Amino acid sequence: MELAYRLKKIKPSATLAVTALANSLKAQGVDVIGFGSGEPDFDTPQPIKDAAIKALADGKTKYTPSGGIPELKKAIVQKFKRDNNLEYKVSEVTVNCGGKHSFYNLMQVLLNSGDEVIIPAPYWVSYPDIVLLADGTPVVIHTDELTNFKITPEMLKKHINKKTKAVIINSPSNPTGSMYTLDELKALGELLKNYDICIITDDIYESIVYNGKKFYNILNATPELKSKTMVLNGVSKTYSMTGWRIGYMAGDETIIKQVEMVQSQSVSNPTSIAQWAAVEAIMGNQSFIDEMLQAFTRRKEMIVNGLNEINGVECHNPDGAFYVFPNVKKIYQCNGFKHIIDNYKDDSLSSKLSSYLLEEARVAVVPGVAFGSDNNLRLSFATSDKSIIEGLKRIKEAIEKLV
Ligand SMILES: Cc1ncc(COP(=O)(O)O)c(C=O)c1O
Repeated sequence: MELAYRLKKIKPSATLAVTALANSLKAQGVDVIGFGSGEPDFDTPQPIKDAAIKALADGKTKYTPSGGIPELKKAIVQKFKRDNNLEYKVSEVTVNCGGKHSFYNLMQVLLNSGDEVIIPAPYWVSYPDIVLLADGTPVVIHTDELTNFKITPEMLKKHINKKTKAVIINSPSNPTGSMYTLDELKALGELLKNYDICIITDDIYESIVYNGKKFYNILNATPELKSKTMVLNGVSKTYSMTGWRIGYMAGDETIIKQVEMVQSQSVSNPTSIAQWAAVEAIMGNQSFIDEMLQAFTRRKEMIVNGLNEINGVECHNPDGAFYVFPNVKKIYQCNGFKHIIDNYKDDSLSSKLSSYLLEEARVAVVPGVAFGSDNNLRLSFATSDKSIIEGLKRIKEAIEKLV
């Protein structure tokens, strides 16, 4: 049977694939260190679990309104005021099955065939494919270490045309951890004021910020953009709730209504008990975040310093999220890498290097090409200090064989 044409446009999520491969090797008894995972390694805090258990005991196990229970919508409205100084009405927010689903729904609502979505690279692996699934065209703006992996208004302007429907801002970013300053957002906002383009700000890593910096949303810099901006967020990363699948978005009421219509004809509603858990996450004691941040800060220093000690590797210091995106271009130029090019059948250099590291060092990393930058690798430091130390040692030994 011939399957749908749209399948030919997309590929499986590289990050999920690397994590699955590392887990399956571990299950076979291979001692693999996984740097692939895109989720905090902490357990979901107990009060959040208790709220789900209470919801179960109270029989909150039925369909809910498609766009989420009113209690959660109200909590999200309060969260936007409390954390972001943004005012929304309950009718301007909706709850989805994870931040990924929020973006998926939004693309289904916004895009007609051929509409362009501007995606700054390095990007989260799912943006281009979700745009393609909605018959849109991803337009990638490449950035590198020179601009700290951020776009400038000049770069953005060059990519805007009549077909541009939306632009994505993901700050702090997966995979680079780069975060826009208020001034940088203001500069982008001033340009975007001149166009009828939807601004999608994916703030899922907003609470994981380092180096004494502060997170800002483009609406903090340019409030005039509110009617054109959709703010996406979720509980996965902030509260270590990746498996619960709760994401949300805020913005124009008409768009929100249409998102809820798409949702009503697909998943009906996010899981009832997970929604009650999310109410507790958002409204309950927030001290868990500081504890998580302390661990991430320590691990970030460890991994950045460790990677920079390896010949041929240059690693920037991320401002947020829990990833590093070291540049490995110099390794590609080494004599020893010729053997990797010949022996590994992968179709990009970063994939070949990742395969080599898995085989030689038993370390799983994600090739940068999956994020739109073949000169880099992505390592998540959402893993134990012990694994980071051991993983770095193995990477160093394997790379030293090449340089
Ligand atoms: C940039 C970015 N946005 C959104 C998400 C979605 O997360 P979830 O669907 O678990 O809420 C992720 C997860 O990796 C991400 O990295």
